[in-house]
Amino acid sequence: MVKLAVGSDHGGLLLKRHLCAFIEELGIEFHDFGTYSPEPVDYPDIARQVAEAVVRGECERGLLVCGTGIGMAIAANKLPGIRAALCHDTFSAVATREHNNSNILCLGERVIGPGLACVIFQAWWEGKFRAGRHARRVEKIAALEREYGR
Ligand code: RB5
Repeated sequence: MVKLAVGSDHGGLLLKRHLCAFIEELGIEFHDFGTYSPEPVDYPDIARQVAEAVVRGECERGLLVCGTGIGMAIAANKLPGIRAALCHDTFSAVATREHNNSNILCLGERVIGPGLACVIFQAWWEGKFRAGRHARRVEKIAALEREYGR
């Protein structure tokens, strides 16, 4: 299984490229689902590819970048089993791993700089789900998906 699925729209392309170089330095294997050029693309199309790779178990976790990170998070969270978290600070990045077992991190290129984005990514990547009472709550999210999905 590939460790990480990565994707961005045109609004997140430059930050994604910067993050990919950093992720390579960390030695994390990843697959980039695009976009690869500054031509405008629709962020839900990229969010779908990355989220599907995670749901199908082809990739362990995902990273999505757009202008704000918001559109990517909204789109990715439509897939049952995806817990995509928009984090622009390190506290949230660690907390969303420990409490929500988030499996996709969303970032906004127009919101934060590349240095902070890398620190946030690393904090999120290294964060571990604490399970316990948090597992019960995450299971309740899955129950919501079963009840209201489709
Ligand atoms: C693209 O202009 C922009 O809407 C997109 O990158 C993202 O910010 C959407 O949430």
